Amino acid sequence: MDKIRIIGGTPLYGQIKISGAKNAALPLISASLLTDAPLVLKNLPDLADVRTFKSLLNHLGVDIVFKHDVDGDHAGALRAHSIQSTEAPYDQVRKMRASVLVLGPLVARAGRAKVSLPGGCAIGSRPIDMHLKGLEHMGADISLEDGYVVVEARNGLRGADYTFPGITVTGTENLLMAATLAKGTTRLMNAAREPEISDLAHCLVAMGAKIDGIGTSTLTIEGRDRLGGTTHSVLPDRIETGTYTMAVALTGGEVELTETSLDLIPSVVPALESMGVHFEKTNRGFKVKRQSDRLKAIDIETEPYPGFPTDLQAQMTVLATMAEGASVITETIFENRFMHVPELMRMGADIRVRGNTAFVRGIPRLKGAPVMATDLRASVSLVIAGLAAEDETIINRVYHLDRGYEHIENKLSACGAHIERIHESAA
Ligand code: EPU
Repeated sequence: MDKIRIIGGTPLYGQIKISGAKNAALPLISASLLTDAPLVLKNLPDLADVRTFKSLLNHLGVDIVFKHDVDGDHAGALRAHSIQSTEAPYDQVRKMRASVLVLGPLVARAGRAKVSLPGGCAIGSRPIDMHLKGLEHMGADISLEDGYVVVEARNGLRGADYTFPGITVTGTENLLMAATLAKGTTRLMNAAREPEISDLAHCLVAMGAKIDGIGTSTLTIEGRDRLGGTTHSVLPDRIETGTYTMAVALTGGEVELTETSLDLIPSVVPALESMGVHFEKTNRGFKVKRQSDRLKAIDIETEPYPGFPTDLQAQMTVLATMAEGASVITETIFENRFMHVPELMRMGADIRVRGNTAFVRGIPRLKGAPVMATDLRASVSLVIAGLAAEDETIINRVYHLDRGYEHIENKLSACGAHIERIHESAA
């Protein structure tokens, strides 16, 4: 298994181009199941999760060709002439929980979906009860069979009013996609408002769907008999944007992040400004730099969008470990998302976790160490820690990083970081 080796302590200078968003690309790829016409996706990130999802969609009957377009960006041409299988097998769902995103489109187009229950994952139990309740409201029958959930709507789904009892991102995406081919009007209330959902909705509209309330917590969808194809460019990855922003905030230096926007991280910007980070908008994105020698402490709580994203909580915890003063970081979305904490403590961090809150006392500098994490965002937080720490940090289990960060070592080393990938055979 590959490792990443970092010698910390070098400030970052230069430019980093932000890739298309992983969490927008996955539902957009799934939307290809809704039509027999071609869907072309531009600015697709070149990530392990996207490739894993491609093989599931191939299995369901979608022809997919990935290629590099003239700008060197990754693009995909997808076409589901017909649905060959309505089953998402255990092995696929086990690898990637977001596989559940095929549920809504499959039931809408083929009247049936059999999807392995996702079960537990590193960041908590993550049930899909809200996805299923919503589909039930739209007339689907739900049953359980040997660890699989079977959702059937032989005579098609029908429009319905459904109020989500809690905020769910992929749940909103599943029901939104399902409603585009249902008979009649669906109103989804207390829907999640993440930008990736709006990106999906805009693509669905371009495919012929009728959706009102995009970007709000009430989505009204008038079902259509069929959808067509379109060409859509995946929105920039706000979590990658926030991650590199935080890397610069911790190491010092000045970096321009391009092909992205400050508007994608509305709650992150004021939090970082209060810690002493300066932002400047540019034509292609924005510049980020730290204003003082050390960051100041922070008190944040994760929330659904537009609140502070749970997917940036681990990275923010790393900033707190070297900030001046005591920080408080509360995780409200997932039940077990502090796996980075013991690893950071091995690097000298002073952190106490009580329930869903981490109390962090800042120290002047972390010390490099061999570390490992069991989830994507925890892994990248260790990369940020390594970039700022004294001496050498080795990050094990790099495959977590490859799931969600395109060419991370190339993007960082182009800005002066001492970071390299050690291939297993050379390790
Ligand atoms: N939940 C339920 N029942 C449901 C659905 C969710 O109880 O039916 C709970 C979850 O267990 C969790 C909370 O509700 O405690 C929120 O979960 P949500 O459904 O919003 O998460 P998700 O859709 O599974 C997406 C992202 C995650 C991101 C979360 C929160 C994708 C593919 N995944 O997951 O991204 O953390 O929203 O913003 O969009 C990542 O990229 O590293 C990642 C984990």
